[in-house]
Amino acid sequence: MIPKKIRTAVFPVAGRGTRFLPATKVSPKEMLPVVDKPLIQYAVEESIAAGAEKLVFITSSSKESIENHFDRNPELEHVLSVSGQKSLLSIIRNIIPPHVTCIYIRQEEPLGLGHAVLCAQSAVGNEPFFVHLADDLINSEIPCLEQMRKHFELHNSSLLGVEHVHDEDIHKYGIVATEVGSSGISRVTKIVEKPARKDAPSNLAVVGRYILTPEIFKKLSSIKVSAGNELQLTDAISSLINDEPVYILPFDGTRYDCGSKLGYLKATVQYGLEHAEIGVKFSEYLKNITKPQTK
Ligand code: UTP
Repeated sequence: MIPKKIRTAVFPVAGRGTRFLPATKVSPKEMLPVVDKPLIQYAVEESIAAGAEKLVFITSSSKESIENHFDRNPELEHVLSVSGQKSLLSIIRNIIPPHVTCIYIRQEEPLGLGHAVLCAQSAVGNEPFFVHLADDLINSEIPCLEQMRKHFELHNSSLLGVEHVHDEDIHKYGIVATEVGSSGISRVTKIVEKPARKDAPSNLAVVGRYILTPEIFKKLSSIKVSAGNELQLTDAISSLINDEPVYILPFDGTRYDCGSKLGYLKATVQYGLEHAEIGVKFSEYLKNITKPQTK
């Protein structure tokens, strides 16, 4: 019997981030800030809010700054302490709460999201776990993974965060076909990675939030490389649906694809408008620059 409590969140952060070059030539995409916090910190906060206590980062050689971000920085702490900047000191000291552990595992080569998740197997063990892609930033009242956790506890099966995408974006995502089961919830009957629009079974796309049962590791170990010469998580899920139910959750919230320039800018504007310190002034600024000019 699979335990219902999810303790582990896996963050695959070993991708190349080519859509954001040259910014991501040296700096990880996941360290891009939205206002004043890097994307990976939003991801970590969302996972901890949903109950994660063990954070597993799948990294690569160029991602050391992620590890440093979640580590202590005694020199900076000393400077903030002697200059009396207590609130900043508290912010940088408490990014990771004391009950949470971070584990870093190197993916030697970016062989795909499926391969990155497989790298987490020994750290995850025989338990269900979250997979969280930090470049999908989701703004919602209840954190997306918390919505998914509640759903998971009812059914104890893998669960994919999904949303409807425009036809012209279908080729960028894993796309699912679903049927409504006897329990009234939608179960995946088919999943395909980055299909052409004409071949797509729907326009319901899997975005960067998953709850997976440990059975996925067996599937990841047996699939072959496919689209983009990578080991695709989608292919492993496609095999998993033959053995156990995989459900979908069309979550409440707005997703920003911060791996794309436009998505990142939209997120920056939205989070800037909501920011306690600068939101009002930023809103005034935006109104001014978007006002029709009178001659
Ligand atoms: P993406 O394809 O969106 O990210 O992978 P990418 O490869 O970093 O970016 P582009 O497309 O070149 O701009 C989805 C997620 O999977 C991780 C990425 O870091 C990202 O969070 N990933 C991808 C890995 O960790 N390892 C891989 O081999 C591939």
